[in-house]
Amino acid sequence: MGSLPWLAHFLCFLLFHLHFQASSSLSFSFNSSTSMLCQHDQSLALLQFKKTFSNWNSPYTKTKSWKEGTDCCWWDGVICDIGTGNVIGLNLSASLLYGTIHSNNSLFSLHHLQKLDLSFNDFNNSQIVSQFGHFSNLTYLSLCSSDFVGRIPLEISYLSKLVFLDLSGNYDLILETTSFKKLLQNITQLQELDLSFVNMSLVAPSSLMNLSSSLAFLKLVSCKLQGKIPDMSHLSKLALLDLSNNHLTLETMTFEKLFQNLSKLREVNLNDVNMSLVAPSSLMNLSSSLASLKLEHCGLQGKIPDNVFQQPNLQLLDLLGNEGLNGSLPRHDWNNSLQSLSLSRTKIQIHLEHDFINNLRSVETLDLSACNFEGSNLELFGRLTQLIELRLSHNNFSGQIPSSLQNLKKLLELDLSYNNFNGQIPSSFENLQQLHVLYLQNNNLSGQIPNYFSNFTQLSLFSLANNLFTGPMFQVDRLLSLYYLDLSNNLLNATIPPSLFTLPQLYTLVLNNNQLTGHFGPFKDNQLGYIDLGNNKLHGRIPSSISKLVYLSFLILSSNKLVGEVPSTICKLKSLQILDLSNNSLNGVIPQCLGNFSNALSVLHLGMNNFQGTIPEPFSVGCSLRYLNFNGNQLRRRVPPSISNCKILEILDLGNNNIDDTFPHFLETLPELQVLVLQSNKLHGLVKGSSTNYSFSKLRIFDLSNNMFSGPLPAEYFNNFKAMMNVGVNMKYMGSPNYNYDYSASLTFKGLEIELVKIQTLLTTIDLSSNKFTGIIPQSIGKLKSLKLLNLSHNRLTGNIQPSLGNLNNLESLDLSSNLLVGRIPTQLANMTFLQIFQVSHNRLEGPIPEGKQFNTFDSSSYEANLGLCGFPLKNCNSEKRQQPTASKEGDSESKIGFGWKPVVAGYGCGVIFGVAMGYVVFKTRKPMWLVRMVEGKRRRKPRRSNN
Ligand SMILES: *[C@@H]1O[C@H](CO)[C@@H](O)[C@H](O)[C@H]1NC(C)=O
Ligand SMILES: *[C@@H]1O[C@H](CO)[C@@H](O)[C@H](O)[C@H]1NC(C)=O
Ligand SMILES: *[C@@H]1O[C@H](CO)[C@@H](O)[C@H](O)[C@H]1NC(C)=O
Ligand SMILES: *[C@@H]1O[C@H](CO)[C@@H](O)[C@H](O)[C@H]1NC(C)=O
Ligand SMILES: *[C@@H]1O[C@H](CO)[C@@H](O)[C@H](O)[C@H]1NC(C)=O
Repeated sequence: MGSLPWLAHFLCFLLFHLHFQASSSLSFSFNSSTSMLCQHDQSLALLQFKKTFSNWNSPYTKTKSWKEGTDCCWWDGVICDIGTGNVIGLNLSASLLYGTIHSNNSLFSLHHLQKLDLSFNDFNNSQIVSQFGHFSNLTYLSLCSSDFVGRIPLEISYLSKLVFLDLSGNYDLILETTSFKKLLQNITQLQELDLSFVNMSLVAPSSLMNLSSSLAFLKLVSCKLQGKIPDMSHLSKLALLDLSNNHLTLETMTFEKLFQNLSKLREVNLNDVNMSLVAPSSLMNLSSSLASLKLEHCGLQGKIPDNVFQQPNLQLLDLLGNEGLNGSLPRHDWNNSLQSLSLSRTKIQIHLEHDFINNLRSVETLDLSACNFEGSNLELFGRLTQLIELRLSHNNFSGQIPSSLQNLKKLLELDLSYNNFNGQIPSSFENLQQLHVLYLQNNNLSGQIPNYFSNFTQLSLFSLANNLFTGPMFQVDRLLSLYYLDLSNNLLNATIPPSLFTLPQLYTLVLNNNQLTGHFGPFKDNQLGYIDLGNNKLHGRIPSSISKLVYLSFLILSSNKLVGEVPSTICKLKSLQILDLSNNSLNGVIPQCLGNFSNALSVLHLGMNNFQGTIPEPFSVGCSLRYLNFNGNQLRRRVPPSISNCKILEILDLGNNNIDDTFPHFLETLPELQVLVLQSNKLHGLVKGSSTNYSFSKLRIFDLSNNMFSGPLPAEYFNNFKAMMNVGVNMKYMGSPNYNYDYSASLTFKGLEIELVKIQTLLTTIDLSSNKFTGIIPQSIGKLKSLKLLNLSHNRLTGNIQPSLGNLNNLESLDLSSNLLVGRIPTQLANMTFLQIFQVSHNRLEGPIPEGKQFNTFDSSSYEANLGLCGFPLKNCNSEKRQQPTASKEGDSESKIGFGWKPVVAGYGCGVIFGVAMGYVVFKTRKPMWLVRMVEGKRRRKPRRSNN
């Protein structure tokens, strides 16, 4: 969390000028401008090159100064040889050039070029054409971060005079083995090489053995290299080595050789290199020149040697995430040049006492998150007055926040999150007004948020989430740098200061799960991109000024008390990806434009409101909705066929409306559909499945309950439900791939209306109950082996209970009650070992109830009102010739809703409830409360932030 996450991961060298200063052939002391130094053909070539770019005339590009009739040697970025007038250098770094460089570009006629820098432009997926290999005198080439793609041509290896090569930061470049080998063979004077982010997955790391021994600077970050790092001890001039973020391993011998032979090494970054085979004692022999050592997540195991901390010139030591690293720290003789130290997520024991703190006197950046502390005198940190960044999160520290931290006058970043600090934020914190980053989330802090934060005008990232703060927020008017604010999951119970919505830099605003009241807004056209105000007590209307937030991609206003209509100006929010207005009292007609205002929209949740009218349509071609939920409104008429334009739709929940239509067969064409809920509408007619093999093949939740469908059960669909046939193993919750947003859906389980706050990907259910289905239970249903719930109750099904149901050995709940089923209960059903709820009451069944396993656990309510069932828990089959029909104990009113509360409670009594034990159902409902309290999951939605 050190640097702001949206900063670039790396920087190209930007060394162009340094290189040129070293070059003696250059000088620009012209006395007369009358004689043209520039060669005419080269001048023309440059002018043509300039026209390659669509924005060549923009005032910001260097090429703006390139004018016909003037001496090209004076043009911005152009360097000539003073003797010959040849163009030998071109520096167009960060010139905002936009366009494609083809192989016939006039650039390639500038044969005399020795240095070429085109870094930080946008060449719009240009290939690096082979002509780049034809600048025979080139010593310096940088194409860094300029949107080049494709293969790096073999011809690059013709540049045999190269001293400097930087192709980094072009995310879709590929370097193949042959090209790399040739490059290493032919470019023998190379001193600096950066291929970071180039895909080198085909290159064997052993080829690094052939790197030119003149190399001083080697950076291969995130190159997808995999395998063993070879012996590189011949690189005796190497000063910087960065092989981080690949899939490399390093062995003890190689590691030791590296540091023994490379006496010039100053900076080493081996983050994510697997060093589990390297004994930490090898760190004892680091070369004395070393200034920076980064070994994050290297899998080092064992005791850390003292010398590491006593290394004479070491300024930066980063051991983060080596969870097997232990031992303790030397008490004395630390090197006093150490400026940055991270022992985060190691087991190295830290005695929090005077000696330790004395050793850190010069440290500016200190990361001791999730460390192995002994001692709790946190006030000692107040002595480290050089500190700029201090991270102490995830340490179980308790008590008050140490007030001595107020002495850290240089501190810009403070992270005390994920501890057990309690009480109020100390008043001494008032003195830390210079802070840019303050993380106090996930503690037990209480009281009001101090007002003095209104003076923290430098704050950029600020989180107090998951604490117990109450009362109003602080004044934010002057926090003009604030970018990220998270106060979610507290007890804030006042209005939101209107100025919050108009802060110029604010991008992320997370206030969900509080008790905030009043109205929100109005909005100005600022940077806001992420707003979560869910689960509060906000009222009033959605302000139409929200349409000014052109960068808004995430908007959650769910579970508040909002009223009125949704302003149709909301459709101006073209960047919106997640829109959740569910569980309010919004009414009126849903703006029709919501179906097609933006193909960026991924989640649209308007469930549990009072919307009337029809479902918005059309949904546009190219619609990229994954989640669509209108459950619990009063929407009428039809399911719009244009929904089939949303080809990646995964969840469609239109339950609990007044839709008066036939079954929307066109949904079959949605290849990704996993959840389809149409329960409790006025849908009617046949549900006749398609014969196409792929229809509904990913469907896992199919709920048509409580409609007026008729005719036979959709046996063809049962044949196509491939996802219900394969028992999955991958336990995940369904959610947005880009945001931390869990998909939810409303289902009815056994007469309980339940909102699944999260949907486990292993949950597979079919609910066709309370319709007018007739005919038999088709055999094909026995193929759906991963089904966990099957409810066919309250229909007019006839015939026998299908014995193939016994194959469904993942089934936990089977309800066939209130049909016209006859015959015996097949003994095969005894094979369903997870069955916890079994209901066949109100049919015409007779004969013995299967014995054993789960059948020992069902009580008589499972069987009531049949013709003649016998055996446990009813009367013994042999004792009487003829069984009396078992009577309903609870009376008719209850049997109408399947089976009522009692049997569910009984289910709990046995120590089991559907799904909860397995963890794949997290649900929430407004009734009954005891159930809510037991299983309700706390909603936590946060924007994803990378840790670095
Ligand atoms: C390349 O450099 C050599 C030696 O400095 C010089 O003789 C030759 O003319 C240069 N070639 C070009 C195309 O500039
Ligand atoms: C090395 O570069 C020269 C041109 O400078 C070229 O002719 C030769 O083919 C290259 N060799 C390899 C192995 O690429
Ligand atoms: C903000 O700082 C000013 C000047 O130091 C001080 O007078 C004022 O009381 C502070 N405001 C708050 C709310 O602490
Ligand atoms: C907010 O909550 C606190 C603590 O429960 C209470 O004392 C205060 O009266 C509440 N304020 C409002 C405006 O409801
Ligand atoms: C129960 O399952 C086992 C294994 O799947 C199978 O061999 C057996 O025939 C089944 N028994 C019944 C009664 O279906």
